[in-house]
Amino acid sequence: MSNINWDTIGFDAYRTRTVILSRFQDGKWSPAEKTENFSFTLDPFAQVLHYAVACFEGLKAFTQKDGKIVIFRPDENAARMRRTADYLGMPAPDEDLFISMCEECVKNNLEFMPPYGHGASMYLRPILMGVHPQMQLTPNPDALFAVICAPAGAYYGSNMRSFSAVIPGDYDRAAPKGSGSYKLGANYAATFKPYKIAHDQGYQELLFLNSATREYVDEYGSSNFFGIKGNTYVTPLSDSVLPSITNKSLQQVAKDLGMEVEKRKIPVEELAEFDEAAACGTAVVITPMYRIDIKPVLGGEEIERSFTYGEPEKVGPVCTKLYKTLTGIQNGELPDTHGWCHEVR
Ligand code: PLP
Ligand code: COI
Repeated sequence: MSNINWDTIGFDAYRTRTVILSRFQDGKWSPAEKTENFSFTLDPFAQVLHYAVACFEGLKAFTQKDGKIVIFRPDENAARMRRTADYLGMPAPDEDLFISMCEECVKNNLEFMPPYGHGASMYLRPILMGVHPQMQLTPNPDALFAVICAPAGAYYGSNMRSFSAVIPGDYDRAAPKGSGSYKLGANYAATFKPYKIAHDQGYQELLFLNSATREYVDEYGSSNFFGIKGNTYVTPLSDSVLPSITNKSLQQVAKDLGMEVEKRKIPVEELAEFDEAAACGTAVVITPMYRIDIKPVLGGEEIERSFTYGEPEKVGPVCTKLYKTLTGIQNGELPDTHGWCHEVR
């Protein structure tokens, strides 16, 4: 097997062996196929290349303590992809095809599956794209669905360390009544330039406000926001943030741990009142922020306001407890009382 160092592996486009594919043509999905060819052949007029008619999902498979391999809540990702595809006017795989192709992807790339005990997992990327050659701005059902995977460790290089984020005064992520709550590739394309500027200034994350009024916290470029106030888990209610499966799970975990959960609008000034603030998502898991700055101009020097939570690199007690509980369920160390872990057989 591969000589991957599971303790230091980051989050990257690590090429495995097999891609699983299906094509929607003549009104139906073709039976899933396996290929070791990592190159797709597309017509240069394919919709995806011009009009970004594409969406994706991100979910993880874990090797549990007893050796079982499970995928975390794939039914939720299947449903979210259907919702995004509907927004794009595209066909989407049904839950059975989606989950079976995710399972096949894991089973056909087992030599890259991280073993239990290293904090690593297999990240699965189901991707759906419009491949019909056309110039007209009308939907066409001709689509390609593929599931690829990559062994993955910590998104920011190490787990359970705190980082810093910046609220950019001159960039928005999503338009009001726009595509913010869908997992479109195009939403991410718009964050590449502000990410570059933020990274150059030493911030790891971008935290976006609601673009209509810029009064409320929306989400990070990569993940949802949550804050901890006493015994309460607070997360934004907004129709322009991605409905995160990790966040949904953490809200349940928080309740199970006896915490209150509030999903509501979070005025920017309330950032001053949280004891802990974090990012959550499949890739970032729970990544606490020790500092969130507001910059009127992202590339400029001026910091309008700065909110701090604990010390750089340190992680607060509630984020630690939530992290241990969520990852404990995923790794099979704690009981899966909600039936979130789907066994790969
Ligand atoms: N928000 C954005 C913009 C994301 O890209 C992601 C990642 O998928 C999330 C939130 C978290 O969603 P999930 O927990 O389902 O991965
Ligand atoms: C995920 O968490 O699965 C995502 O798709 C976020 C991405 C920025 C890595």
